[in-house]
Amino acid sequence: MVLKAELHCHVEGAASPALVARKAAKYGADVSAFIVDGRFVWHDFTSFLRAYDQASALFRTQEDYADLTEDYLLALSAQDAIYSEVFISTDHAISAGLSPRAYIEGLAEGMRRAKAATGIESRMIATGLRHKGPDAVMEAARYIAENPHPLVTGFGMAGDERMHHPRDFARAFDVARDAGLGITVHAGELSGWESVANALDTIRPSRIGHGVRAIENPDLVRRLAEEQILLECCPGSNISLQVYADFPSHPFPALARAGVPVTLNSDDPPYFHTDLAREYDIAAAFFGCDDGALAEITRTALKAAYVDETTRNTLIERLDADKTVRAGDADFAGSVASS
Ligand code: ADE
Ligand code: ZN
Repeated sequence: MVLKAELHCHVEGAASPALVARKAAKYGADVSAFIVDGRFVWHDFTSFLRAYDQASALFRTQEDYADLTEDYLLALSAQDAIYSEVFISTDHAISAGLSPRAYIEGLAEGMRRAKAATGIESRMIATGLRHKGPDAVMEAARYIAENPHPLVTGFGMAGDERMHHPRDFARAFDVARDAGLGITVHAGELSGWESVANALDTIRPSRIGHGVRAIENPDLVRRLAEEQILLECCPGSNISLQVYADFPSHPFPALARAGVPVTLNSDDPPYFHTDLAREYDIAAAFFGCDDGALAEITRTALKAAYVDETTRNTLIERLDADKTVRAGDADFAGSVASS
């Protein structure tokens, strides 16, 4: 058992097919276009996003979101996670007819319930959707900047990376940064290393969602290591979406060896038939991570989390106090290098 932390999971993407089917029954909706035999069906990134949007449209009330968030965090806590950051999307709420305020209150209620039941700490990262364009992302940033919530501590951008240039979103990220939010952006997943370099140059994030395709340029890898930009890696997602053919081809160990801070995340767990525990298992099975190295990955996540310092220190103390793993014994880069 290794204590875990997750920095990259989309809350809408965390809804299980069973929960989505229950919401569909509540609203009299038909899910046969995207759920078959209890599984989400899609065949490429575009059809994945379509299924994801259709499922998200079935979360329509504050209570629906409280349910979803509580469900997700309870399951995560059962996998020994002590901290979770979830990406949220006011665009999806608005599309489902829910106000951003009720949406965030529902999410916060789910977080409070899960914390009361298990102690799991969590925060939200508001996101804009890249494929909706710069104006929509600016609107998402402005809403969150003008309506601060103590549990919303970051701003990011998800969606189709193949559309638009990162510079088109720089002003939206400035609005979020000026509001005191941590900055992360999806890049280097569907597009190559240039996408990561352009995001660094124009958006100036402290973390990158995925970012794994930085491996295509050794100078960029050195830059990530020098600037200690954290990559929120999601290996199971990458294999499902065929970014890489298989786990042995995944650049996670090479990035770690180069000194880039890397963490493990589930992205959209039921779509990719994964969860955080499986991501840690993948790292053990394919990336040469022993329990000490896995605990160091959790520490890397906590150090880069968008939380106040008191909460961060409490979480790190909890990791240090965990006697089942000698956290801190292993030098992760070293342990991977020698594997
Ligand atoms: N939104 C949900 N999952 C995503 C992913 N893997 N990439 C980009 N946008 C997303
Ligand atoms: Zn993602």
